[in-house]
Amino acid sequence: MASLRNAAIAFIASLPCRALASNIIDNNASPPNLSTVFNNSIFYTWRPRSHVLPPSGQIGDPCMHYTDPTTGLFHIGYLHNGAAGAKTSDLITWTDVAEDPTFIRAGGINDPVAVFDGSVIPYGINGTPTLLYTSVSYLPIQWTVPYTKGSETQSLAVTYDGGANFTKLEEGPVIPGPPFPVTNVTGFRDPYVFQSPQLDAAAISPEGTWYSVISGGIHGQGPSQFLFRQYDADFRDWEYLGEWWREEANSSWGDGTWAGRWGFNFEVGNVFALDTEGYNAEGEVFTTLGAEWSEVPIIPQVSQFREMLWAAGNITTSSNGSVHFDPTMAGKLDWGQWAYAAAGKLLPANSSTSTSSGTANDRFISYLWLTNNNFGTSAFPTMPQGWNSVLTTTRELAQGTIGNVIDNELVNETASWRVGSRDTATRTVELITLRQTIAREIRAAFVSNATRTFSQSGRSVSNSTSSYSNSNASSLAFQQSPISKFFMMTASIAFSSSARGSGDLKAGFKILGSEYESTAIYYQFSNESLIVDRSNSSAAALTTPGLLANNEAGRLRLFDIANGSNSSSIETLNLTIVVDNSVVEIFANDRFVLSTWIWSWYDESTQISFYHEGSGDVSFGNVTVYEGLVDAWPERVY
Ligand SMILES: *[C@@H]1O[C@H](CO)[C@@H](O)[C@H](O)[C@H]1NC(C)=O
Ligand SMILES: *[C@@H]1O[C@H](CO)[C@@H](O)[C@H](O)[C@H]1NC(C)=O
Ligand SMILES: *[C@@H]1O[C@H](CO)[C@@H](O)[C@H](O)[C@H]1NC(C)=O
Ligand SMILES: *[C@@H]1O[C@H](CO)[C@@H](O)[C@H](O)[C@H]1NC(C)=O
Ligand SMILES: *[C@@H]1O[C@H](CO)[C@@H](O)[C@H](O)[C@H]1NC(C)=O
Ligand SMILES: *[C@@H]1O[C@H](CO)[C@@H](O)[C@H](O)[C@H]1NC(C)=O
Ligand SMILES: *[C@@H]1O[C@H](CO)[C@@H](O)[C@H](O)[C@H]1NC(C)=O
Ligand SMILES: *[C@@H]1O[C@H](CO)[C@@H](O)[C@H](O)[C@H]1NC(C)=O
Ligand SMILES: *[C@@H]1O[C@H](CO)[C@@H](O)[C@H](O)[C@H]1NC(C)=O
Ligand SMILES: *[C@@H]1O[C@H](CO)[C@@H](O)[C@H](O)[C@H]1NC(C)=O
Ligand SMILES: *[C@@H]1O[C@H](CO)[C@@H](O)[C@H](O)[C@H]1NC(C)=O
Ligand SMILES: *[C@@H]1O[C@H](CO)[C@@H](O)[C@H](O)[C@H]1NC(C)=O
Repeated sequence: MASLRNAAIAFIASLPCRALASNIIDNNASPPNLSTVFNNSIFYTWRPRSHVLPPSGQIGDPCMHYTDPTTGLFHIGYLHNGAAGAKTSDLITWTDVAEDPTFIRAGGINDPVAVFDGSVIPYGINGTPTLLYTSVSYLPIQWTVPYTKGSETQSLAVTYDGGANFTKLEEGPVIPGPPFPVTNVTGFRDPYVFQSPQLDAAAISPEGTWYSVISGGIHGQGPSQFLFRQYDADFRDWEYLGEWWREEANSSWGDGTWAGRWGFNFEVGNVFALDTEGYNAEGEVFTTLGAEWSEVPIIPQVSQFREMLWAAGNITTSSNGSVHFDPTMAGKLDWGQWAYAAAGKLLPANSSTSTSSGTANDRFISYLWLTNNNFGTSAFPTMPQGWNSVLTTTRELAQGTIGNVIDNELVNETASWRVGSRDTATRTVELITLRQTIAREIRAAFVSNATRTFSQSGRSVSNSTSSYSNSNASSLAFQQSPISKFFMMTASIAFSSSARGSGDLKAGFKILGSEYESTAIYYQFSNESLIVDRSNSSAAALTTPGLLANNEAGRLRLFDIANGSNSSSIETLNLTIVVDNSVVEIFANDRFVLSTWIWSWYDESTQISFYHEGSGDVSFGNVTVYEGLVDAWPERVY
């Protein structure tokens, strides 16, 4: 559960009025101060088409997803006046679970104040989907303030009507608090249920036992995941197996370059196992987690930084029988500063949602929350917009491999990859990492459902190329650009070996451009970073507070790849950029994601151009734009 300040503040906008909006808002003229316009009058200005969000109002953390055992449909959940949800038969189009999609609300005996994140056992009590969630009795709750005993407990609810409502059990919390002597916690929430044959073996449990990690930490010690085990068939009691993972307060993985800081408190931990195809209970154990931290001094109720991380590791059993998770690699699930609170779920191969795409293997799919008001702290014009934040495009997670990598100094760090195998004869290694890709059926739909598809011929650029020689920074417009702000673009950028040493090379694209606005997305070797320069992204940022214009940045190492006979070249940078109006997600080399907001104002700001600066040979190729995306909500009236 993130953004605690907002959790209890329900916010439902009244229905937007398109006619009223169009009278006031003119996206061909300079923007007014959008903080001062009528409620809902910019409802459509930046609203995405293909993403998950409620009919109106605020979306918080994704959570509580499951495959309905009766229908085989996949249900997605998210915090919204409690929690709300939608279902899908293909991951592409969604139907709200009811006209009012809220399926659980705060206000019961266990949760008088709030409902925070939870997770669902699909075949739970009596074979029905059973929700284990954080029931909240006192606020505020945050790692920067003393913990109020009993503020976060874990309770059960069951659905009898296909997920339209989850009915709370008439009994007290099944996990009433952190077990003594663990009392002074920084947090104790977001129970994530999972099964694990590896944990069954390590903890000597019956086959098929359910476990739950609860995220949090201990004041003065550090962030941790608390591990519990199902005790009875009705999930009424859970046995505490200890802190299976704890990190030192404010420490980091390696020097922090590849996975930020572990911080002071963990949130939203998920645990699952992957192989190279997707979910595999016997595969490598992964966790995704949120980490909260600040610089000194700690300001009560302000978490300056939140990082959305992943880690993979070994399960070990110590001599006294306690089980532990020991990380072997860790990274960022998303480098966007506003992408957080990921929640994923097993999507079984035999569910109707999966079979409709012909997918033969079990998958683990995940969603992140992308906040558009900096976790509730910026002055974004939320009331004028009438909706707030979104979930990211469905991702598939798998174990990733990078083959034929030259065994040089680039591979040996404590990083977001590990050396899987080493071939001393060829002096190459195979690296293992987390693979992240757009869910296959969504990517296919963006291609097949495009209303306009066009390719742009590639080009090679160096500092001597005439068309780029007039100024230091150059861009060259595409022959064709989208006519809307809804598209997926794919492109490759190949660098000559000398580029690695270039201190000033930047290569990429400018998108959502016009004479007034544009956003540069580029890679630079100087700090191995992919940057999104938002300083000129929005004319409205000049008139309206809360349209943040900071750069976004993420680390991506391009390795040296052997290509036979003692030669090598720098790994090609493959980009997939999804622009769904204001939501922009950048996927690179199947292992890097950066999600952010670009609030371009003018209708004409749709131009794409090449972008190149500094010295170094760069070759752009395979550029294709698929315009249109999909309408994820065909049944909604607006
Ligand atoms: C917008 O809605 C809020 C909450 O309902 C209300 O307090 C505010 O006055 C409205 N603002 C305008 C400009 O209508
Ligand atoms: C869900 O439960 C609430 C509260 O009991 C009720 O008002 C609502 O009608 C129910 N929704 C559905 C779809 O059954
Ligand atoms: C809990 O930890 C906080 C922060 O370190 C400390 O101020 C407080 O005294 C501790 N409370 C208890 C009951 O130990
Ligand atoms: C946490 O570590 C970072 C990096 O060393 C440091 O800048 C920050 O001040 C630390 N925070 C606290 C609260 O000590
Ligand atoms: C994890 O397990 C592998 C294989 O058993 C072993 O080589 C490695 O040292 C272990 N790493 C940690 C951190 O325990
Ligand atoms: C069991 O051993 C582990 C690792 O040595 C230790 O962290 C833990 O506190 C021990 N647990 C108990 C109950 O003694
Ligand atoms: C990387 O680590 C391996 C194994 O420890 C070692 O053999 C190799 O020399 C190291 N490579 C570099 C460039 O440090
Ligand atoms: C490109 O610029 C670099 C550094 O300024 C220079 O050393 C190099 O000769 C230039 N290359 C060409 C082809 O002009
Ligand atoms: C826009 O309006 C808001 C709310 O009235 C105000 O706080 C802000 O200063 C205004 N910004 C500009 C640039 O006028
Ligand atoms: C990049 O894309 C090209 C062409 O689609 C493909 O051949 C290559 O394997 C990809 N490289 C990486 C690192 O993904
Ligand atoms: C474009 O893709 C082809 C294979 O599909 C690949 O051989 C080529 O290197 C790619 N071009 C660039 C510039 O990456
Ligand atoms: C895909 O395109 C078809 C034909 O234009 C359209 O009927 C359908 O609604 C589109 N599907 C989605 C999910 O947008």
